Amino acid sequence: MKILAFETTCDETSAAVMTGQALRSNVVFSQIKLHRKYSGVVPELASRAHLEKIPFVLSGALGAAGIKLPLKQGAVDAVAFSRGPGLPGALLVGRVAAETAAELSGAPLIGVNHLEGHLLACEFENGRAVRRLEFPLAALIVSGGHTEIWHARGYGDYKVMGRTRDDAAGEAFDKVAKLLGLPYPGGPEVEKWARRAEGHGPVFPRPFMAGTWDFSFSGLKTAVSYYLAKKTGASTHDLPAAEKALVCRAFQDAAVETLVKKTADAARALGLKRIAVGGGVSSNGALRGAFGALEGFEVRFSHRSFCSDNAAMIALCALRRLEAGKFANSLRVAPDLARPGWKTKG
Ligand SMILES: Nc1ncnc2c1ncn2[C@@H]1O[C@H](COP(=O)(O)OP(=O)(O)OP(=O)(O)O)[C@@H](O)[C@H]1O
Ligand SMILES: [Mg+2]
Repeated sequence: MKILAFETTCDETSAAVMTGQALRSNVVFSQIKLHRKYSGVVPELASRAHLEKIPFVLSGALGAAGIKLPLKQGAVDAVAFSRGPGLPGALLVGRVAAETAAELSGAPLIGVNHLEGHLLACEFENGRAVRRLEFPLAALIVSGGHTEIWHARGYGDYKVMGRTRDDAAGEAFDKVAKLLGLPYPGGPEVEKWARRAEGHGPVFPRPFMAGTWDFSFSGLKTAVSYYLAKKTGASTHDLPAAEKALVCRAFQDAAVETLVKKTADAARALGLKRIAVGGGVSSNGALRGAFGALEGFEVRFSHRSFCSDNAAMIALCALRRLEAGKFANSLRVAPDLARPGWKTKG
């Protein structure tokens, strides 16, 4: 079973090939440099960059898997793509590439939910999808655009228990970094600066919100912004390095504690002993440490190289669906092939 997959939901252009459980290739072009000067992703620039780079990631992924271009009938057994959620223009590029590859190879086309990809990325180990998730489990999807807790009952069987009502956790990391004059993407920068913090610093409120599994991170970001305004007046760029580090640590502590406590509480309420964490923010060392310290749970993370967007995780979602004998040949049945605001059922 050979699967070719595309990922173009946001600012990574990626193609991957899996043969059975083996990941044969996973080529990712990151657009970070392009968007850095705007301190965030510019959708139109992202779409154009996907269009420019998709031929290269495709030929790279196929070449590494020993598949020749142009694609011939039967060259692959299925073509998968991230159908949503994501930026409309960016999704369109992946969808058209996938439709074309499916048409040329005569293979079925499988539209995958990108967030499921972030969850299943936990299964890769040494280039093979062999660390199968054991269900049921509580999943925390924590990325640049989403922060959701799922009750995952099996492959493709997810119920959303809570989601952010405003900013995603990754977005909050990015915005706090921007307030501090740190480059985009802010998550890794905040983590790096937090590690340098020494001594006492500010403590920011934990936005737990009792009585719901939903999250809210915009108040925490505002608390950081008020703190900085009080401390520095107009320009935070003059903040001494030691102070910057303390603010990063204080913000990260508040975000991590909220994410871990809410997920653990939800898992306990559902009687679940297993937790899996996926998405860009899941590469954060403090988050991994805090989940690791939880007693009574088996917690899974993906390898750091699979936390951010990649097509390998999309190929894997398609593989699990094919193994279960479940997939729709959406090329022929669905008029709305791209789903920018795709929401997992609550
Ligand atoms: N070490 C880190 N600590 C905290 N946040 C991080 C870290 N590394 C990356 N991030 C954050 O992860 C986000 C990117 O993750 P990802 O690529 O999964 O998001 P996305 O694809 O843009 O959004 P979505 O998956 O919701 O569509 C950014 O907000 C980035 O700052
Ligand atoms: Mg993502």
